[in-house]
Amino acid sequence: MDVFPKKLLSKLSERAHNNALRGLPDSNNLIDFSSNDYLGLAKNKEVFLNAVELLKEHNQFRNGATGSRLLTGNHSLYIELEKKLCAFYEVRAALVFNSGYDANIGFFSSVPQRGDEVFYDEFIHASIRDGIRLGNAKSFKFKHNDVEDLKSKISPPLRAQSRSDDAEIYIVTESVFSMDGDSPDLKAIAEFCSSNNYHLVVDEAHAVGVFGDYGKGLVQELGLQEQVFARIMTFGKALGCHGAAVLGSEKLKSFLINYARSFIYTTGLSPHSVATILVAYDYLQTTEGIKAQQKLKKNIESFSRIDNSFDLKLNFIPSNSAIQSCNIKGNDKVKKAAQSIQDMGFDVKPILSPTVPNGEERLRICLHAYNTGKQIKEVLNLLQSII
Ligand SMILES: Cc1ncc(COP(=O)(O)O)c(C=O)c1O
Repeated sequence: MDVFPKKLLSKLSERAHNNALRGLPDSNNLIDFSSNDYLGLAKNKEVFLNAVELLKEHNQFRNGATGSRLLTGNHSLYIELEKKLCAFYEVRAALVFNSGYDANIGFFSSVPQRGDEVFYDEFIHASIRDGIRLGNAKSFKFKHNDVEDLKSKISPPLRAQSRSDDAEIYIVTESVFSMDGDSPDLKAIAEFCSSNNYHLVVDEAHAVGVFGDYGKGLVQELGLQEQVFARIMTFGKALGCHGAAVLGSEKLKSFLINYARSFIYTTGLSPHSVATILVAYDYLQTTEGIKAQQKLKKNIESFSRIDNSFDLKLNFIPSNSAIQSCNIKGNDKVKKAAQSIQDMGFDVKPILSPTVPNGEERLRICLHAYNTGKQIKEVLNLLQSII
């Protein structure tokens, strides 16, 4: 009989002991306050049907890409999508990856070279950390959303002395942080990068569809597209489908095609996946799409207004995005709070350590265009009564 390795067993027991053992949840019919489907596009029938029509128009009756994009997988819809992304995001080149995870792993493991330095916000997404870890550059974290700390980490005399003359500096942040829902002072960071010739990389996963005209993201809302070296846009959140793109220059695109291993050594997305992304971008610019973005904004505003009106202030991290996180310390406590709210019919998820640091466990409430004012009020009332 195969014996399960003891070291793995002990790691699993440790997770269980900390009440942090992960498992796959069943699907449920609760009111959605937890998915990343901020605009409801994942279940939008029109998007689904239009994607099928587009496949027919392109005579694409194939179920899979059949190979890496570098071999047989680069079907015509990819070319159309990358062109559309360039126009939509006002950028010279776009390269589509199979997921945001793949895009970040591919970018950060290949772009910063030995001798280069990467400075990253301490709350940066796991995919960016993993990418950095796979690469050869040195990396340093700075305090969350703290531009002064970033500056001081880059410039201490000792570090500057040991830096070689040809070292490139990369700074990476998210425009909306996935666990906190807050945003950095992107203007200040972009200014700092431009004036020092540092390369700024912004992961816009949770800003797409939420900020900017037609949901173009925070970089464009602030008019910073020319100051950013690369943007990572993902399609699995507000666009309701799957995949991601790295936006930047033609040279960056060519570099990634040649060196990003998560791009090269994997089967491309199916024509159906790419058609869905194309149609989802069209939908963002329709009257219905614009209405969904406006409704989401309204829901975000009313959530904050109701939260502010409570006598006993809930411990929310300030955010004007679709992600609203309420700190409840300890895995046991936050799990119990989530369960009580779920028992009343609302799907909110506890975020446990080690996903977030010990002591920063929280309930993560995601707002959507399709949540009603009444539901928002009810979920906050429940939270208030529990706390
Ligand atoms: C900030 C951020 N970047 C990247 C990703 C990964 O994107 P994807 O789900 O497309 O792999 C996520 C999703 O969890 C994210 O929150």
